[in-house]
Amino acid sequence: MALILGIESSCDETAAAVVRDGCNVLSSAVASQIAKHAVHGGVVPELAAREHLTALRPVLDQALAEAGVTPSDIDAIAVTQGPGLIPALLVGLNFAKGLAIGWNKPLIGVNHFIAHIYAAFLEDGSRLLERADTYPLLALVVSGGHTSLLLVEADGKSRQLGCTMDDAAGEALDKASKLLGLGYPGGPIIQRTADGGDVTRYDFPRPLTGAAGKALAPENKYNFSFSGVKTALLYHYRRQSEANGGVFPAELMKDTVASYQEAVIDVLVRKTLTAAREFGVRTVVVSGGVACNGPLRTRFEQSTPSSIRLRLAPGKFCTDNAAMVAGCGYHYFRKSRFINLGADSFARLPMITEVPFL
Ligand code: KG4
Ligand code: ZN
Repeated sequence: MALILGIESSCDETAAAVVRDGCNVLSSAVASQIAKHAVHGGVVPELAAREHLTALRPVLDQALAEAGVTPSDIDAIAVTQGPGLIPALLVGLNFAKGLAIGWNKPLIGVNHFIAHIYAAFLEDGSRLLERADTYPLLALVVSGGHTSLLLVEADGKSRQLGCTMDDAAGEALDKASKLLGLGYPGGPIIQRTADGGDVTRYDFPRPLTGAAGKALAPENKYNFSFSGVKTALLYHYRRQSEANGGVFPAELMKDTVASYQEAVIDVLVRKTLTAAREFGVRTVVVSGGVACNGPLRTRFEQSTPSSIRLRLAPGKFCTDNAAMVAGCGYHYFRKSRFINLGADSFARLPMITEVPFL
């Protein structure tokens, strides 16, 4: 039995959690900085770092109290090492290093991207990871920082099939919301605004799908691009505003947002399920902040063939949290894969050739 403390600070959520044996979430405390960044229309890395500095201790205390444990009960400290915003990551990593020294515990550096995938297996799913019939597994990680497809084989060998060439899907939603003056963070606002709207009213492009009759280069089959959809929205917004005395008509907002969200969802679902068929996958995982999106979840539920197991990360573990870090960290712990006090944070996603939970 192992009790892992997780620490997360890669973006604008400060989080700490205690997880037993990689699956039993005893506590998951999250302090969101959304209100602090909203006035700037997006995350300001230096501001995030300062906020983490003040929030980490109270969040840690909350996680320990809710779990009903003391530092001496903890077996190891797992911390997000990257990818993410370097100033934000550094605060969490150094905080975790301080705990490791003060409490005399081993330190684990967790890859945030892999932790997002692991989030789909917390609580009731960890046994699935041990079953051969779970693989090949295809994970779509779709958040503010990532839109990537990772293929995982039964021996743990992994490879990235594709990723976004410009904006991440969450970023495309956040920027659209900002453009339309709807606020930050865009994903949940867009979902709410789109509710009940006509998704077919405006035909936004589906980049890199071949939908527009443009030949798709083989190397882009599983890559994504959302900048074109964003530009199409900008032109639509300008056109409609110019035709209406310089003001975008409020009555077009719902259908505009619904059609835009639909374009993003369509590309995500289409590419994921095409890859699932091509590689004969047995499990499809969808995780990351955008996986909270109701219409995206519904579309995956409706479109995934019944022969494929669909694991949508639970809503509470889609956006950044430390339970996924502690849960994933348990598997590094089992293999004694620790980092030393000289370890550094990293901003970009390294090439992933294996996952630690196998
Ligand atoms: O995973 P996450 O918390 O942070 C990153 O690692 O990026 O994801 C944040 C992203 C933001 O872009 C946010 O707008 C999006 O997830 N998001 C949503 C929803 N809730 C959060 N996107 C669509 N629908 C939602 N309900
Ligand atoms: Zn994240």
